[in-house]
Amino acid sequence: MRRLFPVTDMTSTTPPRAAGDTAGTTSSASADAAVTGADREWTLDELADAYAYPDPLPEGASWLRANMVSSLDGAGQHDGRSQPLSSDADMRVFGTLRALADVVIVGAETVRQEGYRPARAREAFAERRAAAGQGPAPVIAVVTASMELDFSLPLFTEPLVPTLVLTGAASSPERRAEAERAGVEVVIAGDGRDVQPLEAVAALAERGLRRQLTEGGPTLLGQFVAAGVLDELCLSLSPTMTAGGAQRIAGGPVIAVPQRFAVASVLEQDGFLFTRYRRI
Ligand SMILES: NC(=O)c1ccc[n+]([C@@H]2O[C@H](COP(=O)([O-])OP(=O)(O)OC[C@H]3O[C@@H](n4cnc5c(N)ncnc54)[C@H](OP(=O)(O)O)[C@@H]3O)[C@@H](O)[C@H]2O)c1
Repeated sequence: MRRLFPVTDMTSTTPPRAAGDTAGTTSSASADAAVTGADREWTLDELADAYAYPDPLPEGASWLRANMVSSLDGAGQHDGRSQPLSSDADMRVFGTLRALADVVIVGAETVRQEGYRPARAREAFAERRAAAGQGPAPVIAVVTASMELDFSLPLFTEPLVPTLVLTGAASSPERRAEAERAGVEVVIAGDGRDVQPLEAVAALAERGLRRQLTEGGPTLLGQFVAAGVLDELCLSLSPTMTAGGAQRIAGGPVIAVPQRFAVASVLEQDGFLFTRYRRI
């Protein structure tokens, strides 16, 4: 991993040694990498520092960041999953972003298609989470109108911290009762069947879940964008092309004026660009 932007002492200025250049362990390139820390796998602590939430958050405020992966040609999935676009480095960033979050907000279709499991407690982040006043793992909050979720899955029955379901007041009372019997807390964040993004963000913040992370999918992310509640996008640009008609990372109705974001940082590993943009 190396930092391309902002340019710091973790930005390699020399290319990595060519394959087969084994003799030159003291070559300027390897010496440079050793000195700068570039071109090596970053520790999870370094990644966590790089992706820290704004600290402190203003009193009562929350911060919603999204973490998404896209191919070079804009696909947000391949064969119904994001995994074919991902990599080991991407999964390290994914895990780090989860470890920094109070809550992971995810659309029901992603839960159904990707077989979501409960978030794990990771030893590497335990101290950091305790110091930040966080539980051992982030809460997973699933957004659904239909309530068509399998509440017998480990995501609902075996989490370290109870999974939340965000839904509208007019969603099925029978399905809500079933969710609650499985140990799920149902949070109402909208008058109809749908969840209102502003209400969802506020309801989570009221529960003390202020460092918010959404992992999509595109339908849900598009609504957060349209409602103007997305503060930050962590976009992994995968060095792949998929062609075809795959969803982009955000869908739903088009918004009237494109929202502008400013680049906050760009990291690179194995050809993946790990970008971080903040809403202006
Ligand atoms: N590239 C990436 O980083 C990335 C990340 C995540 C997912 N994905 C991919 O994206 C695909 C799934 O995305 P998707 O866009 O189809 O689905 P999604 O956004 O994950 O979920 C859509 C579902 O979420 C619920 N939902 C969304 N907005 C709602 C609202 N305002 N109120 C109530 N419920 C709401 C609805 O659930 P109900 O139908 O239950 O009402 C809706 O059908 C998968 O292929 C997945 O692999 C890619």
